[in-house]
Amino acid sequence: MDVVRTSVTDFDAAVADVLAETIAARPDAVLLLATGSTPIGGFRELVRRVGAGDVDARRIRVVQLDEYVGIPDDDRRSLYGWLEREVLAPLEVDEDRLLRFRVESADDAEAACATLDDGIGRLGGLDLALLGLGPNGHVGFNEPPCGPDAPTRVVALDPASVTSNARYWGGEEHVPRLSVTVGLGPILAARHVALVVQGDHKRGILRQTLEGPETPQVPASYLRRATRYTVVADEDALDGA
Ligand code: F6R
Repeated sequence: MDVVRTSVTDFDAAVADVLAETIAARPDAVLLLATGSTPIGGFRELVRRVGAGDVDARRIRVVQLDEYVGIPDDDRRSLYGWLEREVLAPLEVDEDRLLRFRVESADDAEAACATLDDGIGRLGGLDLALLGLGPNGHVGFNEPPCGPDAPTRVVALDPASVTSNARYWGGEEHVPRLSVTVGLGPILAARHVALVVQGDHKRGILRQTLEGPETPQVPASYLRRATRYTVVADEDALDGA
């Protein structure tokens, strides 16, 4: 495990470094990308570097990590909406370089999970899984309890996730209760797993993730099993961790 400790201000650049290094090593890299607030600054920094001609992202392939079930495609709060705004549109990633969940209806959810896993296999696996850390130790929507072999699947949101996502939905009562997520199993099969964490509100769960026992109660604790594991964390998240 490599821990990249950054100042608060250098965090986004360090996240962008992980992405840029992956793309430099393999221009058609397959990137599994989290949304949420943590990686956004890193995505913007990557977009800036691409614009400046420092990174060539014309061949990257992008795989969606997770999605709410039952949200229309054009709803800006869908996780696809986040990905579209922050990564796909600015980097001009077109449909044939994108693998995503299509789960506007709950009836489609099981099939969408199988399609996504098949797609990862056809792409030859993941070069990088870039993950955020949930307040309850989730990665993607692998909610506790979750073992290291968990497949890509339909998951009911944990109450802690409903609470933490309420800010995006205008209150807990509006947060969708069902999600789909790439499983911890396929995530751990990635050639490189990077966990990005910022802020002192993540300090306790980061400490458990890095130093606590491997446990289904903290799904991120299993990331230590990855072939290559990098943690990018700012000093606020790491202090005392
Ligand atoms: C989102 C995702 C989630 C978030 C996690 C942290 O695609 O997979 O697991 O990464 O909830 O969210 P933020 O970064 O908003 O604190």
